[in-house]
Amino acid sequence: MGGTRREPAVPPTSPTPPGERILATTRPLALYSPGTGDPLAHLWTAEPAPEGTVAGQEWLSRDERDRLDAMLLESDRALFVTARVLLRTALSRCVPAVDPAEWAFRTGPQGRPEVLSPRTAPRLRFNISHTRGLAACLICPEIDCGLDVECLDRRFDPVRLARAMLSPAEADDIAAAPGGYVTAKRFIRYWTLKEAYSKGRGLGLSLPTASYTFRLGPPGPTRLHASDDDGADWQFGQWQHGADHMVAVALRRGPATDLALVRHRGVSAAAASQAAAWRTSSSSSAARSALSGPGRSFR
Ligand SMILES: CC(C)(COP(=O)(O)OP(=O)(O)OC[C@H]1O[C@@H](n2cnc3c(N)ncnc32)[C@H](O)[C@@H]1OP(=O)(O)O)[C@@H](O)C(=O)NCCC(=O)NCCS
Repeated sequence: MGGTRREPAVPPTSPTPPGERILATTRPLALYSPGTGDPLAHLWTAEPAPEGTVAGQEWLSRDERDRLDAMLLESDRALFVTARVLLRTALSRCVPAVDPAEWAFRTGPQGRPEVLSPRTAPRLRFNISHTRGLAACLICPEIDCGLDVECLDRRFDPVRLARAMLSPAEADDIAAAPGGYVTAKRFIRYWTLKEAYSKGRGLGLSLPTASYTFRLGPPGPTRLHASDDDGADWQFGQWQHGADHMVAVALRRGPATDLALVRHRGVSAAAASQAAAWRTSSSSSAARSALSGPGRSFR
């Protein structure tokens, strides 16, 4: 991708067997593929933990604390705190020289948060999403990226909602689905892709959701058709997370081949706490990159 800085080649993050956690690494997380030099996208997920039990909660900025104070529901507060600690921990996993509390953010005109400081090369881009039972954070160097997670355990009429919220072709596809859970899940697939894409563009739901159309894969990759954007510039990833959640990721990778997405096991409260302990007990970069380990990577 033109203009993006290439890191020196470093070994790829190796897949971690289920349940195993890497607590210290000697190198920062790779932000570019050692093989191709293409950007790598990293995704972290975490189950929300009650406010007050999240290690690293003290890293929140004044703005974040003000937002937290304005939230009335315990469940919203838990999601917000978990997502913010996850984001700060994950950013510092990418740039271990920066303490999680140091990251400062700004908000774009349509609400998209970005890193304000410290400035890094490459520039880290991110997006976060949270829903009942899951918080997630996507980070990649330089490129636009969007993420959405939604709970599958919802009661709604997918055919009616599709007529109101999706494009005509998508609504026809939902109407033709077998019904019940299959139809509801297919609607959530469209919805998460739309939110990931609109967030990837930084527009959120100011982009009318019926104004562009997804063609769901498989067979073939999921594709976007939009009148004001080149769908071929975007790569979409989507999968079911556990029994209850759908995840969608949108990456504006341009005309390049598909990028690799590395999925990490959540930065649990225990892992964040351990990372914090490593930080204070040693100034070595090895100790300061101590976090939970990576999951599998895929295209
Ligand atoms: C951004 C938007 C799409 C949020 O969607 P959401 O599903 O409610 O929330 P998510 O958890 O996925 O994303 C929220 C995060 O997106 C980020 N975000 C906010 N505005 C954004 C924008 N314009 N572009 C990219 N990211 C944005 C923020 O980090 C926010 O988290 P925070 O508030 O804790 O800082 C919002 O514009 C919106 O209006 N949502 C309405 C959702 C809705 O109607 N859902 C119906 C489902 S059937």
